[in-house]
Amino acid sequence: MTGPILRRRDDGATELRVNGVFVMDDRQTASERALARAVVERGARDVLVGGLGLGFTLRELLTAPVRRVVVVERHREIVDWMRDGTIAGADLLTDPRVEVVLDDVRAAVVEQPAGSLDAIVLDIDNGPDFLVHDDNAAVYGPSFVGVCAERLRPGGHLCVWSMAPSDTVVASLRASFERVEQTSVPVRLQDRAEHYWILTGSHPRR
Ligand SMILES: C[S@@+](CC[C@H](N)C(=O)[O-])C[C@H]1O[C@@H](n2cnc3c(N)ncnc32)[C@H](O)[C@@H]1O
Repeated sequence: MTGPILRRRDDGATELRVNGVFVMDDRQTASERALARAVVERGARDVLVGGLGLGFTLRELLTAPVRRVVVVERHREIVDWMRDGTIAGADLLTDPRVEVVLDDVRAAVVEQPAGSLDAIVLDIDNGPDFLVHDDNAAVYGPSFVGVCAERLRPGGHLCVWSMAPSDTVVASLRASFERVEQTSVPVRLQDRAEHYWILTGSHPRR
């Protein structure tokens, strides 16, 4: 695997690539921001986010009255670029509500105490059918989704970003959550109108 690189495009956009594959840019960020809103609109205060990327999900979370955000990123370079200003967002990482964990999100979630989070937000890859990192397949499977479910409080939510609707993710969520929703977010990709997807599993409030 080759590490992350940043590309400055001729149109002025910044593009993040990993393993030679386009991950995201800083122009089409509606779905990354919608992911954050999906949990703050449900009242989440203590949130874990995997991964950092260009920071749009994290920035949107921090505009809300969240108490604590654990942001988990596997590539140190991305955090370093944000800290030194290569990527905009150094202010996000010095926000007192933010804790940065450099690790695989699977290991970082296991470290969280049971029932300690209101929401877990996963935007670590393009979805189970379009992986940039092959080992991220496990993130979408029932075993890891079950680990996430145990770290959430009653009324807690797991939100997963995906490039396309996913029966795999829906089945994993159904195994551990009472309510499962699949929501589309309209995005404009070059000249095309497309949709990205947010899949949410929710515990009952009790
Ligand atoms: C699509 S980007 C996240 C975009 C982010 N939501 C935003 O608003 O900019 C995916 C990020 O997850 C990171 N990542 C990939 N696999 C990971 C894993 N298993 N654990 C933690 N971070 C991971 C990537 O390095 C990348 O920074």
